[in-house]
Amino acid sequence: MLSPSLYTNPLHHHTEIDGLFKSSWIFVGLKFELSGLSHQGVRVGNTNLLLQCDSQGKPRAYLNVCSHRHAQLCEPGKHTGVVRCPYHGWVYDREGVPVGIPQKQAFPQVVANPTAHRLAEFACEAVGQFIFVRKSSDGPGLQSYLGNQYDFLKRASQGMASVQDEFRKDVAANWKVVIENSLEGYHVPNVHSTTLMQADGMGREAEAPQFFLQDPLHSYLEHAADADWVKRFDRMANKIGQWPWRFEHYTHHFIFPNLTVTSFMGYSFHIQQFEPTAVDVTTVQSRTVGVDFSNATAAGSKMMEHIHADGHAFTRKVFDEDAGICKRVQAGVEQAIKPTLLAQGLEDRVAHFQRAYRSQNMLTQ
Ligand code: FES
Ligand SMILES: [Fe+2]
Repeated sequence: MLSPSLYTNPLHHHTEIDGLFKSSWIFVGLKFELSGLSHQGVRVGNTNLLLQCDSQGKPRAYLNVCSHRHAQLCEPGKHTGVVRCPYHGWVYDREGVPVGIPQKQAFPQVVANPTAHRLAEFACEAVGQFIFVRKSSDGPGLQSYLGNQYDFLKRASQGMASVQDEFRKDVAANWKVVIENSLEGYHVPNVHSTTLMQADGMGREAEAPQFFLQDPLHSYLEHAADADWVKRFDRMANKIGQWPWRFEHYTHHFIFPNLTVTSFMGYSFHIQQFEPTAVDVTTVQSRTVGVDFSNATAAGSKMMEHIHADGHAFTRKVFDEDAGICKRVQAGVEQAIKPTLLAQGLEDRVAHFQRAYRSQNMLTQ
């Protein structure tokens, strides 16, 4: 088990930022969010990045620092238009090369060789819609890093079209507390007694979820959907139509170290990204992404809209319940003197995460 100080020591937090958050592939966003002439400011560990697609449509991650006198090029979040420095107005192209320089005769060295003055760049790869960045200059490619998760993300991306609901919130706990909380259902009866426990088919004790721990860093679970729920969808099929990847279970995937992707039956995907803002603050970006339906009637689309809207309200409520308990866990961890205990068969994915963490992190304590 990981010792409590690994969740509370600010020096150790910096070790993580310079260690595993540098060497791992970190999820940073979705490809369709970068479509058209747009770019995004994102943060990976303590580095501000600028994300945009190049002229070939490939996502690229640049250091968010102007080559002229180091102004930050864009604020975090989404921006339309070209990258233009707010200080003296240098304009960069899709490949990060300065192509528009006011009074350019004053910079003969840049005019002679603009590509030598392009923005610094980090490894950036995508699978389907999912974009990842690795700050270390060497390491495994994305496909080998993701293992079995590569095909899952590729398949889940089919028909992904738009973000239906999105929020960004701070949780007052270490990122590992928040991740560990997402990896077990043991807390559900206590923490989510009025939400998840009341939801159709969620309170079933009989059919336990199945854990998949084959990937050394990542894990997932599948929980068979309630048969009545599946029948309900079957009855609606001639109205709501079909979607690209339909399955009959709830699935929860954790991709080390900062991404979870969950879905019920594949008609939408809930994507959460966890950022280690401070030793005791985790910023969570939550997106619900819809997929394209075919052969839907107008009435069927309306029905799905209602299902989605209920889902969004539910997701926010469950999120707040988890945020509340994570804050209390962090308060306890700050005082703790012994390692934790883990339930066999219930908290196996937490144990798996801790093994992954230990394998990736140079433990000094
Ligand atoms: S610092 Fe960016 S144009 Fe001067
Ligand atoms: Fe929870």
